[in-house]
Amino acid sequence: MPLRPLKSLATGPLSGRVRVPGDKSISHRALMIGAIAVGETVIHGLLTGDDVLRTAAAMTALGATIERADPGAPTDIWRVHGVGIGGLRESEQVLDMGNSGTAARLLLGLLASHPVTSFFTGDASLVKRPMARVITPLEQMGAQVVSRSRGRFPLALIGSDQTVPITYRLPVPSAQVKSAVLLAGLNTAGITTVIETQPTRDHSELMLRHFGVTVVTEILEDGALAVSVTGQPEITGRTVHVPGDPSSAAFLTVAALLRPDSDVTILDVGVNPRRTGLYDTLIEMGADIQFDNRRIEAGEPVADLRVRASALHGVTVPASRAPSMIDEYPILSVAAACADGTTVMNGLAELRVKESDRLAMIANGLTACGAKVEAGADSLIVHGTGRPPAGGATVATALDHRIAMSFLVLGATTAQPVQVDDGTFIDTSFPGFVALINSLGGAIKPAEANS
Ligand code: S3P
Repeated sequence: MPLRPLKSLATGPLSGRVRVPGDKSISHRALMIGAIAVGETVIHGLLTGDDVLRTAAAMTALGATIERADPGAPTDIWRVHGVGIGGLRESEQVLDMGNSGTAARLLLGLLASHPVTSFFTGDASLVKRPMARVITPLEQMGAQVVSRSRGRFPLALIGSDQTVPITYRLPVPSAQVKSAVLLAGLNTAGITTVIETQPTRDHSELMLRHFGVTVVTEILEDGALAVSVTGQPEITGRTVHVPGDPSSAAFLTVAALLRPDSDVTILDVGVNPRRTGLYDTLIEMGADIQFDNRRIEAGEPVADLRVRASALHGVTVPASRAPSMIDEYPILSVAAACADGTTVMNGLAELRVKESDRLAMIANGLTACGAKVEAGADSLIVHGTGRPPAGGATVATALDHRIAMSFLVLGATTAQPVQVDDGTFIDTSFPGFVALINSLGGAIKPAEANS
């Protein structure tokens, strides 16, 4: 595929009222759970990014009927006709999950407790990412996996309808692993439990409850959280409203904070507390962010965010906050590079196994743009000067949407433009990002390779 280099130039104030596309995590779950509910599920505001379209294609190959109701409508309405729990059929095609770790790991879980054989693959980023973290518990439940060494894609999964329920303590804080086990538990007789010592995003739990599954949570004596599902419930289709993705709103938020005199409102953003660690951190750094019109939609908290330009100062981000902002360290690092003083971020080991080695990509990109950064094995220290770094670099993105968007936001503040080598992967999570930020006053343009 040809690369799509993009260049971001310094802008004046950003202003306007906008919406960001639907939440990626919730969109995957709405499609997957809709596909195993009996009857029709109607999804409003589904993210139509490539990652989620991979899930839609896979669920279709597995027997669900999924259609976009009205492609011209201002918000996307999708209809899913599900097959019932245990009713997915064997796919005749390899399931290609593209760039999406969430689609890959959640679907492995769902199919582990179906008596079908599935073949999975993904793009050059996904085939490098660890799958052993889901293979281990799914094998304990009775599924079989044949994979490349160390559990990498491509792999074959032989599922079973005789899986056994397990109690599984997560060795890494991962909502994807938690969700894979809970989804496998749906077609497993008995109670399947996942224990997490650090709370990760709970969209699977909330979505399952929304569809009528009993999900029980309990705080254990050691403070860990146990999440249980009782297998083989009857679930029927529902209406789902997907809120705007706080991880996408994060890019507009930081851009507005960094450009003097900006005033941007982002409507209908999901503000689930297991996702809003970035916003807590930015407020500690001095950000003026107002949460208006708070409400609950389909079990998820939602608000309108008003963001005004602010002088930011460096902070130490507690490692315990990492699960609630795990996807936001690239854009936080951009904010930190423009803030006054040092920002210390710890507990970042998981960043090394995302769409790219994000810790390395952030450190290299910020250094190339003139910022002072120290990267450790699982830590990052950014020394801000109170002014944006110089910019003037081309930053490598390694098939990673969030690295691309973060450095394009940086380019809105630096004296010299910042270029990214490829913006193609932005479409996995935030289709329309460039047009949206430009509509607020941004200046992101197609560029020549290496210009
Ligand atoms: C996600 C969980 C997180 C996050 C990813 C989406 C999810 O991954 O980084 O973008 O939807 O469950 P991990 O579970 O690997 O932390």
